[in-house]
Amino acid sequence: MDKVRVGIIGCGGIASSTHVPNYLKLQDVSVVACADIEASRARDFAKRFNIPAYYGDYQDMLDKESLDAVSVCTPNVAHKGPSVAAMKAGAHVLVEKPMAASLKDSVEMWETSKKTNRILIVGFQTRFSPSIVLLKSIVASGELGSIYYARALHLRRWGIPPSPTFIDVKLSGGGALLDIGCYAVDTAMYVLGFPEPKTVAGVTYARFGRNKKYAEMGCWGSKWRPEDFQVEDMAIGFIKFEGGLSMIMETSWASYINSPGVFNLVLLGDEGGAQMDPPEIYKGLELEEFNKRAYGPLNLAAKPIDHFPNVDIYYMRIANFIESVKIGKPLFSSADEGIIVQSILDAIYKSANLGREVEVEKPWRN
Ligand SMILES: NC(=O)c1ccc[n+]([C@@H]2O[C@H](COP(=O)([O-])OP(=O)(O)OC[C@H]3O[C@@H](n4cnc5c(N)ncnc54)[C@H](O)[C@@H]3O)[C@@H](O)[C@H]2O)c1
Repeated sequence: MDKVRVGIIGCGGIASSTHVPNYLKLQDVSVVACADIEASRARDFAKRFNIPAYYGDYQDMLDKESLDAVSVCTPNVAHKGPSVAAMKAGAHVLVEKPMAASLKDSVEMWETSKKTNRILIVGFQTRFSPSIVLLKSIVASGELGSIYYARALHLRRWGIPPSPTFIDVKLSGGGALLDIGCYAVDTAMYVLGFPEPKTVAGVTYARFGRNKKYAEMGCWGSKWRPEDFQVEDMAIGFIKFEGGLSMIMETSWASYINSPGVFNLVLLGDEGGAQMDPPEIYKGLELEEFNKRAYGPLNLAAKPIDHFPNVDIYYMRIANFIESVKIGKPLFSSADEGIIVQSILDAIYKSANLGREVEVEKPWRN
């Protein structure tokens, strides 16, 4: 293959901060075109990054540019349309997280990927975080025995994104759960080797975003109108898996917790426990034994790991996407995995709406 011809759909924040700058670092890639529903944004974006062509309609771009690969960087509700169209036009797709605004959209994207034989990768850059990779390898080594319980947390003290992309349900499809809860669920599923989910009990809250006092305070330099805030700012899920494993997932954009933010996965096995942040292993149940070898053979917490390689996870996802395009198979976060993560997110919303536990839908089994 000559240079991989890349197109960008959605020329906003994440496309300009992490997609194009990383494509431009790769010698075997040309970013040849970009598209945005607001043509002036696409024009300014093209000018800023020296992209030869810009479009106000992504279908136009797909029809004219013979692209090998496309980054879909639109709001969640607009992940499906451009991803499906790009795959039908012959391009492989890296779609921003979450995979889509709903399980229904994800199914169409997943089916299109199968039918067109195009790669669809969900852009969970967290897959490249050294602490997550380490935890996955610890679990795979059997060091913790059989894992029966997990706690997946992604909480912020004060981090409500004020942009309509995140809080206008017509663009986002959901709130904190789709925005950052998706990382908690994806990380847990990845580390645990994608166990089969069975049932989910979920609850959501909106105690901050719709409150005039907090909307007036604003976040990250911007205020919003409480009536424009149409999504949850906290979600909790209790997920049961085949084989007895269970998991609590907690996510929030705002909560009176004792730190600016928590992104952690805590695992309990019958031979040991471990967590992601800070990376620690716990072995030995008796206090004396715990004190002696509290942190197990890998000695993780005894000496906090300050020698983790400094990995640019945003560069890694772009480089790995391009490598996937070249070898013709997904190297990380495939649509097969994305649809399972989305089925759990979807079940949390469904359970919260119905006020009872629900079965997880498994379209990948049909
Ligand atoms: N991986 C990460 O760290 C990360 C960080 C932020 C956002 N995101 C994800 O990236 C996506 C976009 O977020 P953002 O912060 O860049 O939003 P943004 O609002 O800054 O940019 C979105 C762009 O998409 C355009 N757009 C909307 N509908 C379109 C359509 N149908 N066709 C073409 N263009 C369209 C908008 O005009 C806008 O320019 C979201 O799904 C979000 O969850 C990921």
